[in-house]
Amino acid sequence: MKKFARILTASLLVLSIAGCSTPASSGGGGTPTGGGGAPSGGGSGDGTVQVGIVLPTKDEPRWMQDQTRFSEGLTQAGFTNQVSFSQGDSGIERSNVETLVQKGAKVIIICPQDGNAAAAAVEVAKESGATVIAYDRVITNTDKLDYFVGFDSENVGKAQADYLISQTTGAGNPLYLYAGSVSDENAFNFFNGAWKELQPKIADGTYVIVNSSEATALSDKNELAREDLAKILGQISIQNWDLGLAKGKAETDLIGAPVSSKGNVFILAPNDGTARNIADAFAADSDILSYKITGQDVEIPSIQYIIQGKQSMSVFKDTRALTNAAIQMATDILGGNTPTTTGTVNNGAIEVPSDVLEVQTVTVDNYKEILVDSGYYQEDQLK
Ligand code: GAL
Repeated sequence: MKKFARILTASLLVLSIAGCSTPASSGGGGTPTGGGGAPSGGGSGDGTVQVGIVLPTKDEPRWMQDQTRFSEGLTQAGFTNQVSFSQGDSGIERSNVETLVQKGAKVIIICPQDGNAAAAAVEVAKESGATVIAYDRVITNTDKLDYFVGFDSENVGKAQADYLISQTTGAGNPLYLYAGSVSDENAFNFFNGAWKELQPKIADGTYVIVNSSEATALSDKNELAREDLAKILGQISIQNWDLGLAKGKAETDLIGAPVSSKGNVFILAPNDGTARNIADAFAADSDILSYKITGQDVEIPSIQYIIQGKQSMSVFKDTRALTNAAIQMATDILGGNTPTTTGTVNNGAIEVPSDVLEVQTVTVDNYKEILVDSGYYQEDQLK
């Protein structure tokens, strides 16, 4: 990723939408047609859709928030819109895009379930003449993708690693590594960003990796090649970001670990859902005296875990700013203007013009300021 991330500014938040009600314009839950939900907002009333959004799953709170923000923001901007969900299935994702094309969508915003497989859905959209924006996760190995809007994923991993390092003293500290789904390009970038920080501390003996022989074998190498990353993620990734798999993997690691690799431990977990499940597994092991664990997405259950001392940090990706950036792009495109971008992201085939946003570390010490004072959450939601 070229480094052109932009810092969030108040102006980005102008379109910010509060609340979590299910909007009338949202599409149904992952039926092959992309299902239900009449388009709404400034429309002709004939069922056509100007902007179509396809999100990966309803099973993670963050995508439900995005659905609300898209529906409300696009309707407010005067565009008919429809949000549908892929429910973890690239086939459903493609059908959802076909449905949007049939409804006349001119801009199609896709957060891919699987970055490679989504290239087929991009083809479908492009053949219809629509402009395609990859949202939050880039779509890989296609030269047809028009734009990407997302966060600086390497900086997410960096924030996680920096946090762990800030909590660590002495030498020989057990380090457990986990990563997101290999179908998601972000998972590689999160881990890569973390590795660049952690590696010198592994090489100097501050940490000892417990659960990845591949990472241990590469512990002298700071700049990992794609094949190196693939080897490590082959051992530590959690397919589909699945919560049950995350817990199972942690339990297996703990069964395999000697008591000398327990005690006070450090855990790189890629996002909040997996972090909570991994944390539960570690908390249940009587040989674990304390653990520090990372997360990402500031999901409400994780902020509650942070307040209760069961998760150590999360990374805030302000989805208000992200949906606003995507809505702004759609508005520019529909108005015949070239969207503003901060740089490019290489998707394996081309340099994709991109709008890349920055992230923030959230802990028990600053969650009120960052999340409550900014109106992202209400204090009583976090109880
Ligand atoms: C990533 C996304 C994260 C997290 C994860 C699990 O691609 O950037 O914010 O939600 O997927 O869905």
